[in-house]
Amino acid sequence: MTTDTTGTAARDGEPRRGGPADSPFVRACRREEGPHTPVWFMRQAGRSLPEYREIRANVGMLESCRRPDLVAEITLQPVRRHRVDAAILFSDIVVPVAAAGIELDIVAGTGPVVAEPVRTLDDVERIRPITVEDVSYVDEAVRLLVAELGDTPLIGFAGAPFTLASYLVEGGPSRTHAKTKALMYGDPQLWHALCTRLAEVTVAFLRVQADAGVSAVQLFDSWAGALSESDYRRYVLPHSAKVLAGLADAGIPRIHFGVGTAELLGAMGEAGADVVGVDWRTPLDVATRRIGADKAVQGNLDPAVLLAPWPVVEAEVRRIVAEGRAAPGHVFNLGHGVLPETDPDVLTRVVALVHEVSAR
Ligand code: CP3
Repeated sequence: MTTDTTGTAARDGEPRRGGPADSPFVRACRREEGPHTPVWFMRQAGRSLPEYREIRANVGMLESCRRPDLVAEITLQPVRRHRVDAAILFSDIVVPVAAAGIELDIVAGTGPVVAEPVRTLDDVERIRPITVEDVSYVDEAVRLLVAELGDTPLIGFAGAPFTLASYLVEGGPSRTHAKTKALMYGDPQLWHALCTRLAEVTVAFLRVQADAGVSAVQLFDSWAGALSESDYRRYVLPHSAKVLAGLADAGIPRIHFGVGTAELLGAMGEAGADVVGVDWRTPLDVATRRIGADKAVQGNLDPAVLLAPWPVVEAEVRRIVAEGRAAPGHVFNLGHGVLPETDPDVLTRVVALVHEVSAR
């Protein structure tokens, strides 16, 4: 038995009930009826919000992720402003890797940059296992947030082994993932050693968040769409499956997301997700046929549509809510993160529109 933060006891592996566990978001993840289609946005906390730009003006990205007071404030900003159905912890996928001993920075406008890219087994062994002490700021921030959010669920997250490995092997963002694939095809043993270690760190990191009270977790395999289905199944799926299985007894929904993954949707579901994230390239009714009726879907408005005139946005939102009805559960989201140039008032209007057109 573990005591969850709503005060009710949940048996290991059994769904939590009451409070955020009965929210429209968690209900949709579990494929249960709710009052409306829930909506949140990847990157809802961030540069589209003036209050975010202000709070981050003199604080580096990694430093802000390590200060529980800032993490809590930044996480809450979009919840207050847009009335989204879920908060997502403000952090980054490289935070646990840094905690595991890899020297890196998050450079504004570029993304994660790794000082010494991973090339050898010795490099892999530099990635130490992590415990709650290594990420105590995350534990503390989640507890602060769960207390503050009341019935609004908090989503925890981590990067999946392939996407993390890409940053570690390339040394930074890459369009082709060429060095990553060269290692994967050229030295499968080293590749699997690296992904095994990353999966262990990721399970530990998600476990910290689950123990502190998050209501769901999202595993971001943002760059998995660079792979064919057969390579995905051979080199990546077993490691992501280990991460998702490692969280099974937490009793919270697991969302699995990637970009450009039309051909991988079935496999990503098989990795052990309750909800599969879909980008804008695949309509949700088509996606749900690929994923299967035993999983909910999340998505899939093109973030660039938010830059278009409102009638265009409105028509797209209505289409996606309608197509989402083909799935046994639908969480409305974008197909990828909010673009920094997005007008935040448009996001607020989208939330209200999704709630209105999906009201049951
Ligand atoms: O609101 C939220 O979604 C929570 C916050 C969040 C961030 N990063 C904050 C952030 C989440 C969920 C992430 C995950 C993340 N980080 C992913 C997976 C999601 C995705 O976008 O595919 C990836 C690939 C990263 C790596 C990363 N970190 C990139 C590509 C960038 C963008 C670089 C840039 O500046 O445009 C970052 C930096 C980052 N992470 C920012 C934020 C708000 C911007 C830094 C800043 O504001 O100074």
